[in-house]
Amino acid sequence: MNILLLGSGGREHALAWKLSQSPLCSALYIAPGNTGTAICGTNLSFSATDFAAVTDCCKEKKIDLVVVGPEDPLVKGITDHLRGIKDLGGLMIIGPSAEAAQLEGSKAYAKKFMALHNIPTAAYREFTAADFDEGIKYLRTHQLPVVLKADGLAAGKGVIICEDHEQAVTEFTQMLKGSKFGEAGSKVVVEEFLSGIELSVFALTDGKDYVLLPEAKDYKRIGEGDTGLNTGGMGAISPVPFADEAFMKKVKERIVEPTIKGLEQDQLDYKGFVFFGLIKVNGDPFVIEYNCRMGDPETEVVMPRLENDLVELFIATAKGKLKEQKIRISPSAAATIVAVSGGYPNDFRKGLAIKGLDAQQENTLVFHAGTKEVDGQILTNGGRVFCVTSLAPGIQQAVLASGKLFEKIHFEDMYYRKDIGYEFTHS
Ligand code: AMP
Ligand code: GLY
Repeated sequence: MNILLLGSGGREHALAWKLSQSPLCSALYIAPGNTGTAICGTNLSFSATDFAAVTDCCKEKKIDLVVVGPEDPLVKGITDHLRGIKDLGGLMIIGPSAEAAQLEGSKAYAKKFMALHNIPTAAYREFTAADFDEGIKYLRTHQLPVVLKADGLAAGKGVIICEDHEQAVTEFTQMLKGSKFGEAGSKVVVEEFLSGIELSVFALTDGKDYVLLPEAKDYKRIGEGDTGLNTGGMGAISPVPFADEAFMKKVKERIVEPTIKGLEQDQLDYKGFVFFGLIKVNGDPFVIEYNCRMGDPETEVVMPRLENDLVELFIATAKGKLKEQKIRISPSAAATIVAVSGGYPNDFRKGLAIKGLDAQQENTLVFHAGTKEVDGQILTNGGRVFCVTSLAPGIQQAVLASGKLFEKIHFEDMYYRKDIGYEFTHS
């Protein structure tokens, strides 16, 4: 089977690593990939949103299966585009249609879907410039804190938690009148603040049935103890200690199953990952957000714990036969720690030489993200540069093992959090 994987982050290196282990994978191409994915297959130099290049590649390389890593091509309609091409009749695609990807691409769409299918989430209202004055009135009497969300994709920056009414009114005005977040902020979701602890749950669905992958918890803030700016993720752990059997039963019954049934009822074409961003409030799960793809850096702990053949799972997904699949999960815990370039998520330098990336340690893996090779040397090429994942009997040991490999890897300005999993490692 010839496989094309779209994307270039740590998530894609972890997916490429897993796909390349399958005896069903005869050729793996990654576009555009990074220096890590190049170890697992062949990198191709076009962007994941260049639909014409993706189409040509599928024809030229006789691709059987396309796996879409990031949300951008999905929300822009890559799945519908490929399905519409006559010569690509039998092509299998992992990733929902543009309509279904609105679950991530539009917060208002996701909220409507949850309301329709009785899926627990924070109470909300949506506003546009047309009902601006009503929105201001609503905000002035809203319980605090209040959460404002730009409706569209805003590179993870579109959520603002406001502690007072003045801030809420200012942010709301900037989104609707000052085009903060551009088109993405032309509709605003105003939401009740939920207080609890978050986790990420992943399902793979063929649109009727689903399997659950290992759950994970990511650490989004730049600073230790979850302080400072939000980032694309500084580390992750799996399993999540508070996601015990009783809690996961509620997650399945109240959230995952109604969501999959909802997709079917609404006739949404969905063959791919559903990422449930959840929050546990007084023992009960609520949906904070849906994503139509795997998480990053969660994938870097989920894939190493998944014992199934990923290609087999994807074929079953594409053919509507997931019901026949059983997920096998390693009992080991996994922890990943992300190395970023100093200054990230604000300004940072690129092109810094990385030493020791080929360091080896038993039960530890290095996944590349923002890296590139120039004249045989690996250089940084983004804010999030690579991550180190370890498997061990417990979370604390896994975190320690990843930290140990960091002693052998270095680039100027390298920064990483030393407290990943902290809530679960100091007992
Ligand atoms: P999102 O982009 O929807 O994932 O939101 C980013 C982050 O904002 C989430 O991971 C939460 O930490 C926080 N957040 C979003 N919505 C809420 C809410 N209703 N209550 C509390 N925190 C929230
Ligand atoms: N780690 C969160 C995300 O991928 O959106």
